[in-house]
Amino acid sequence: MRQEKANQSSPNFSGNTLTILYDNIRWEEKALYEAAKKKGVSVETIDCKNLVLDLNNGKSKYSGQVVLQRSVSYFKNVHSTAALEGLGAHVINSLHAAILCGNKMYAHMELEKAGVRTPKAVAAFSEESALAALEEFGYPVVIKPTVGSWGRLIALLRDKEVARAVIEDREHMFPLYQVYYFEEFVERPPRDIRAIVVGDKAVAAIYRYSGEGEWKTNMALGGHAEACPVTKELEDICLKATRALGGKIVGVDLMESKGDGLMVHEVNNTTEFKNTVRATGVDIPALMVDYALGQGK
Ligand SMILES: Nc1ncnc2c1ncn2[C@@H]1O[C@H](COP(=O)(O)OP(=O)(O)O)[C@@H](O)[C@H]1O
Ligand SMILES: [Mg+2]
Repeated sequence: MRQEKANQSSPNFSGNTLTILYDNIRWEEKALYEAAKKKGVSVETIDCKNLVLDLNNGKSKYSGQVVLQRSVSYFKNVHSTAALEGLGAHVINSLHAAILCGNKMYAHMELEKAGVRTPKAVAAFSEESALAALEEFGYPVVIKPTVGSWGRLIALLRDKEVARAVIEDREHMFPLYQVYYFEEFVERPPRDIRAIVVGDKAVAAIYRYSGEGEWKTNMALGGHAEACPVTKELEDICLKATRALGGKIVGVDLMESKGDGLMVHEVNNTTEFKNTVRATGVDIPALMVDYALGQGK
């Protein structure tokens, strides 16, 4: 744990404090820390792995504290958020948002309910019913763990034989992987869109092009980024999706479906934004810090 009073060059937020909770220090966490320091904010950075919380302490030091939740681990994220919120902290993003964004099936249901276009999907809960469901749903189809990121364990099932093999493997994994969530394979250009939403605004967006021989467009899989204009249509769908899931600072992933236009396939509650800053020049960390401190007032 580190507590540092930063320089006082920006008078706006002096006296404010901000907690950044993380489990991995990525470019993003460093950038958020630097942005807060530049604004003269007292920043406390806490490694979630060192966090010990007295869950019965009504007078916790976290009461009223603004916490930027940056833990990548889904389980550390939702549990530490639940504890901190319970102790009176203002956590961004909230437990509600973390639970909904962190699970692709929960998110799908909320997006549907809110009328946000999202890939058609089907769920099943056993090997047999999953294979039967796909007979109806059709191939090719995308299988996704309900909880996960960076494209991991997401596979394109082109036919029944591949589906059978992948599903059989899943039967030997942790029970979470026996919750079968499938999406239609959306016909789209070899790119998707990542838009960063801060509060009521889509502040920047990029196209993410998939790397050589890869259909997924995650930057972690070798893709590259280019600036994407934030049109009114893009901003509207991003804000609708963000609100549907209760998010405040998020990364919205969208596809440009050939048949159906823009659709949202994921909302990330601890979004990465390094490539978006590099491709667009927008000072996203400064905007995030401003927004977080505004919430603490
Ligand atoms: N239904 C789909 N059809 C076509 N491509 C998809 C579909 N869903 C995801 N993808 C591709 O796979 C990538 C990873 O999917 P995503 O749902 O964002 O999971 P993750 O949390 O692992 O990033 C997306 O960025 C996109 O390029
Ligand atoms: Mg994604």
